[in-house]
Amino acid sequence: MARTDHLMLRSGHFKLGLFSANCSGGLAVTRVPERWDASWDGNLALSMLADDFGIDFMLPIARFAGYGGDTDFQGASLETLVWASALLASTQRMTVFATVHTAFCHPVLAAKQFATADQVGHGRFGLNIVAGWNQPEYELFGLELPPGHADRYAQAQEWWDVVRRIWTEDKPFDFQGRQFKLKNVSGRPRPFNGVPPILNAASSQEGRAFAAANVDFLFTVLIDLATSKAELPLLRAQSKAHGRELGVLTPTYVVCRPSKKEAEDYHRHYAEENADEKGLDRLLELQGLHAKSFPADAFKHLRTRFAGGHGSYPLIGDPDTVADEIEKIAAAGFDGATLAFVDYVMELPFFCTEVIPRLERKGLRIPLAR
Ligand SMILES: Cc1cc2nc3c(=O)[nH]c(=O)nc-3n(C[C@H](O)[C@H](O)[C@H](O)COP(=O)(O)O)c2cc1C
Repeated sequence: MARTDHLMLRSGHFKLGLFSANCSGGLAVTRVPERWDASWDGNLALSMLADDFGIDFMLPIARFAGYGGDTDFQGASLETLVWASALLASTQRMTVFATVHTAFCHPVLAAKQFATADQVGHGRFGLNIVAGWNQPEYELFGLELPPGHADRYAQAQEWWDVVRRIWTEDKPFDFQGRQFKLKNVSGRPRPFNGVPPILNAASSQEGRAFAAANVDFLFTVLIDLATSKAELPLLRAQSKAHGRELGVLTPTYVVCRPSKKEAEDYHRHYAEENADEKGLDRLLELQGLHAKSFPADAFKHLRTRFAGGHGSYPLIGDPDTVADEIEKIAAAGFDGATLAFVDYVMELPFFCTEVIPRLERKGLRIPLAR
């Protein structure tokens, strides 16, 4: 199979995935009782639904410490590689990613684990590389967060070079890096069908440069459509200079209801009236977002966006509005988006039956071949 035949890598199809279902709370920093508990049974039920509706992929968050507050947002999370392997064994069609911190997982072990997961899924495994940012998580591993982005991405580059070479080179090799000094490295089996789809989650210039040089998709936050529209062609040119084609995905969160009013009312209910304010304070502090750096209105808006979906792009409204918003994201140059819901299993069917056919009619998605 050519790599471009992989369902995740085909062109002319705006990809949709589910993000953060492995974490308690998902992306919503809220106290409402129906918030996502990220149980295994919930994840399994969600994957079955998503696979059946033609959702293209599931993408987990790698998280090792919660955010405290009333709900300890993301305090419980299923480990992403074990989660991905089990979902790959239970689904038929979709790609399932693992999200892996390059600093916390030795690349020789990682290469074998990823190849094993890809064997389980007959080529449906995907890898999301994260270079790290969160000081408390480094402390939890007894490590120091490298102070600069350059150091973090240099470390990530070595890590990825080792993994990729294990998968693609015919003979055992020695590796002399700054961090890894390895002898006679090899690892079999290889992934099922060549290097699986690779994604890198990043915002900084260094992160984007790493993505342009190494991966299939950059996963990055959409702040506003005009900025992305200007930036994405530059990113694609950057990857072309490396002889690569970079796709770009962005996270969104969804409140889709039969009427716009119902959607807006529920969003206000969970993200404003019932936000987990203390958890939100901690999340914003760790992200370096402080009230004093913003005008009051802008900070309130940002807070709501973080309570609603961890700062991702809001898709709130009736099916027509949500489909039109996704069309705008595609027109800004994105190749796909992730979705998150307060209660993924309860809310996904309405989204899929109402919004996906609208996207197909707009020519954004290829209908599912049954
Ligand atoms: C959309 C998106 C998703 C991310 N997912 C994770 C994650 O699952 N776990 C994690 O520790 N960091 C995650 N990150 C953080 C990045 O991997 C990266 O470490 C962080 O953004 C700092 O690097 P940067 O300045 O290059 O963006 C994510 C970042 C973005 C933009």
